[in-house]
Amino acid sequence: MKTYGDLNPSPRTILTPGPVEVDPRVLRAMSFPILGQFDPEFTTLMNETMEMLRHLFQTHNQWAYPVDGTSRSGIEAVLTSVIEPGDKVLIPIYGRFGYLLWEIAERCGAEVVTIEKEWGRVFDSSEVIEAIDREKPDIVAIVHGETSTGRIQPLADIGAACRERDILIIVDAVATIGGVDVKTDEWMLDAVIGGTQKCLSVPSGMSPITYNDRVEKKVLRRKKIERGLRDQTPAPASMGRTVQSNYLDLSQLQDYWSPARLNHHTEATSMLYALREGLRIALQEGLEPRFQRHLLHERALVSGLEAMGLTFYGDASCKLPVVTCIEIPEGLDGESVRSMLLDAFGIEIASSFGPLKGRIWRIGTMGYSCSRKNVLHLLGALEAVLLRHQVDVRAGRALQAALDIYADKK
Ligand SMILES: Cc1ncc(COP(=O)(O)O)c(C=O)c1O
Repeated sequence: MKTYGDLNPSPRTILTPGPVEVDPRVLRAMSFPILGQFDPEFTTLMNETMEMLRHLFQTHNQWAYPVDGTSRSGIEAVLTSVIEPGDKVLIPIYGRFGYLLWEIAERCGAEVVTIEKEWGRVFDSSEVIEAIDREKPDIVAIVHGETSTGRIQPLADIGAACRERDILIIVDAVATIGGVDVKTDEWMLDAVIGGTQKCLSVPSGMSPITYNDRVEKKVLRRKKIERGLRDQTPAPASMGRTVQSNYLDLSQLQDYWSPARLNHHTEATSMLYALREGLRIALQEGLEPRFQRHLLHERALVSGLEAMGLTFYGDASCKLPVVTCIEIPEGLDGESVRSMLLDAFGIEIASSFGPLKGRIWRIGTMGYSCSRKNVLHLLGALEAVLLRHQVDVRAGRALQAALDIYADKK
């Protein structure tokens, strides 16, 4: 039989918009022994995780827990549980992940209406509010931080407008949670989906979500309908109104996360340890200092890239602090630069999708990866690699510019 080598992944400096490097404390937490999912020791850990998630999401919602699966499992759980066939869902799209919301909402049988903004920009809140008043949707679904374009959509006014009109707003905060302010209650967001593998620096495989009683009411109403329908044979045509997914049904998931602990799936024990440790690290640092740390390293990175003479992509006024997009200089093979960064320096930065493929690189400064060491390593390495590719960069300035930012901070 063929023999397989020991698992020995290379240590990397990961500066992509996710997954990013994981704090060694989280990795250690993942190696602890498994507990049974109804063991009181484990259910205590579940409750503590819920408490910490409420802090992270800045909410008093009862429901804040992780869905097992990558971030899109959280998005699908919320959308499939909330959207009933025929519901009108407005999706303002300004990058790739808006299309993901569209696709999932369509699968749920929604009547989807979209408004689109050219990539690199975001909506003025008034444009979304006008669309709300024109279309009169039941639900608005929107991305907070678009990793595909490196932009951030302000949500406070849109959230307030939805609440005033009794419309539900569902937010993909996968890229922002733990790195940028996400004020669930203050901005009146009804459901928010986060990610683990970005600013929280936990491996991919869970999606923390939160939702309020407005969402719960809609979810439970459907559950009642479902119970009613089960008692009728043959099933009436309106059967489509029940939640199609068992795994991602919030009404069942919340029963499992409630004190009743109704059995649903088998909890992903090691991932829960990881998430709990990641949350502990984030809250020990403090949310505000953590956001400030992300801003500081963004500033140093941007200063360095600017000093090198590189051009940024997108409207600077809505730049997502944790993702920096740079235009690939004319005629340069962007993939060759990325390969050399990885092979020679062990540094990974990201390419891009769709219309931006081959046009921009995306640099993530998220969570544990967001550090002075990483920013300085990348600036030095990128300068060297660009020079190797005969790009006319202003050599010797980038690191000095970044060091100036750090010196000012002392
Ligand atoms: C903004 C945003 N939403 C959703 C997702 C989907 O997350 P996942 O790949 O964990 O399912 C991503 C992943 O990159 C993302 O950046």
